[in-house]
Amino acid sequence: MVIVTGATGKTGSVVASRLLEMGEAVRVIGRSAEKLESLRSRGAEIAAGDQGDVTFMRNALDGADALYLLIPPKYDAVDFRRYYNDMGDAAVLAIRAQKVKKVVFLSSLGADRESGTGPVVGLHDVEQKLRRLADVDIVFLRPGYFMENILGNAELIATKGINGGPMRGDVPMTLTATADIGAKAAELLRERSFTSHSVVEITGDRLTNEEITRIIGDSLGIAHLPYIQFSDADALSAFTAMGLSNNVAGSYIELMHGIENGLLGPVVIDSSDLMAPTRFAEFAESVFKPVFESMKQHALA
Ligand SMILES: NC(=O)c1ccc[n+]([C@@H]2O[C@H](COP(=O)([O-])OP(=O)(O)OC[C@H]3O[C@@H](n4cnc5c(N)ncnc54)[C@H](OP(=O)(O)O)[C@@H]3O)[C@@H](O)[C@H]2O)c1
Repeated sequence: MVIVTGATGKTGSVVASRLLEMGEAVRVIGRSAEKLESLRSRGAEIAAGDQGDVTFMRNALDGADALYLLIPPKYDAVDFRRYYNDMGDAAVLAIRAQKVKKVVFLSSLGADRESGTGPVVGLHDVEQKLRRLADVDIVFLRPGYFMENILGNAELIATKGINGGPMRGDVPMTLTATADIGAKAAELLRERSFTSHSVVEITGDRLTNEEITRIIGDSLGIAHLPYIQFSDADALSAFTAMGLSNNVAGSYIELMHGIENGLLGPVVIDSSDLMAPTRFAEFAESVFKPVFESMKQHALA
């Protein structure tokens, strides 16, 4: 039995679907039984509850041969790092109690660092907790900045005719599509041949915000779409207006500057053989463009 956390989310939904397609026995975790229903109808067991609740997690991991573990983001957290630590503690207690032998943990590039990387310091802390489980085989799966994060800018592009954010436009960052992360995790969890503790970096294109903006503009047919760097104060106001707590908003701004400062590059030497398959131009065409167009249609309706 493979247990999948975050099963209705971006990466977990791909992991669960792939494993079900491969004929694996799967139990999926999320807070809402209703949202998990479509996975149940495809053959998964469901466990609905809060990952921060140790009793729930212990029960959810009963009989687990392997686990896909992610820490779900909590955008209104008062202390984001503390939150990651609490969720990590609950997971570690449950893994110990149920003697789970194989874990793929969704971490991030930059998780080797102790500071300066915003939410990734939370992932660093959870990696440290998991590393104390000496008899559990663990892959620390480290992707770059999710391509899907850029979907959050669709409204800005549609309403203001610009792309923008708190990061400089001319600094490259490593991107990864969540479909590639899910596919890689499913492969690892199906084969279960990994041993000890290892880091697997899963990286796609390295592009600047100006390059990302040009690719999106080309795909949408918008000539000369500009990228504008916002001040941290403006970014903080925009993020808190979207419902993020001050602490979480500040953490994401720190992440952007961490990327600018080169704190989230790959550690393993990049090789095209190891690259995740989805190119950003494909993502722009097959994911960003349909989302953008349906958003514009709703705005016009
Ligand atoms: N964004 C990036 O660029 C990036 C890069 C590297 C790493 N990461 C890491 O990726 C992780 C997020 O992965 P993702 O994007 O695949 O997730 P996601 O799309 O944000 O989905 C979160 C999932 O967790 C479930 N969930 C939320 N709160 C829960 C709780 N308290 N208990 C149980 N389930 C809960 C959600 O379902 P319900 O709402 O139905 O419960 C959903 O299935 C984070 O740890 C983040 O730090 C992100």
